[in-house]
Amino acid sequence: MGDIHDHVHTSAEEFYKKIIDNNKVWSETKLNTDPEYFAKLAKGQSPPLLWIGCSDSRVPANEVIGAQPGEVFVHRNIANMVIHSDMNMLSVLDYAVNVLKVQHVIVCGHYGCGGVKAAMGNHSIGLIDNWIRHIKDVYRHHHTYLNSILDETDRFNAFVELNVKEQVSDLAKTSIVQNAWKNGQELCLHGWVYGLDSGIVKDLGVNFCDNGDLDKVHQLQF
Ligand code: CO
Repeated sequence: MGDIHDHVHTSAEEFYKKIIDNNKVWSETKLNTDPEYFAKLAKGQSPPLLWIGCSDSRVPANEVIGAQPGEVFVHRNIANMVIHSDMNMLSVLDYAVNVLKVQHVIVCGHYGCGGVKAAMGNHSIGLIDNWIRHIKDVYRHHHTYLNSILDETDRFNAFVELNVKEQVSDLAKTSIVQNAWKNGQELCLHGWVYGLDSGIVKDLGVNFCDNGDLDKVHQLQF
C-alpha cells in the first residue's frame, strides 16, 4: 500500500487519487486474509474502549495501541478536551457508555501538542482562540505550579500532563459517567500522554473507577 506521506511532493490531484487507490489495496488485503472480514464488521460493534485524543495527525488512535477496526470508539478534538457543554463529546460519551458499554475511557494527550503550546502563549490564531481558552483555564488552575517551572520545555510537558489529568477528572464529573457507576457498570477512566518522538504512551496514573475521588461538590447523588 502506498504511503501518503510523500504528498508534499505530489499535486493535490495526485494525492487525492492516491488515497482512493490506497483504499482499494487496503480492502483487498483485508479480504485476502479473511473473505468475511467486512461482512463480520458490518454486523455490529462492541468495542471495550473509548479513546478521547487530540486531532493531531501524528497520534492515530488505533495504530498506537494496535487496535483493529471494531476495537476502539474514538473522539478527537484539538488538545483532547472534555468540555462539559460540548454536545459532540457528550453524545460520543453517552453512546459509548450507555449503548456500547465500554469498560475503559482513555484521554490521550501528547507531548508537543500545538493546542497546549498555543494556550501557553498570547498569539491570536483565529476562531480557535476561543477553544484554546478552555486550555488556558487549566493553566489558570495550576498557574502557581506551572510558573514555578523555569525551563520552558519542562513547563510545556508538565502542562500537557496536567491538561490530561484535568480532562479525566472532568469526565468523572459528568452525569453520564457517575450514573454508570451508580448502576454498578464496570467503567474506569485513564489518562495517558503519548510521546511523538518515542511512540510510547505514559500512563499518568489517574484512574477513576468510582466518584469517591472527586471533590464532594462534584459527587452526584441519584
Ligand atoms: Co495535540
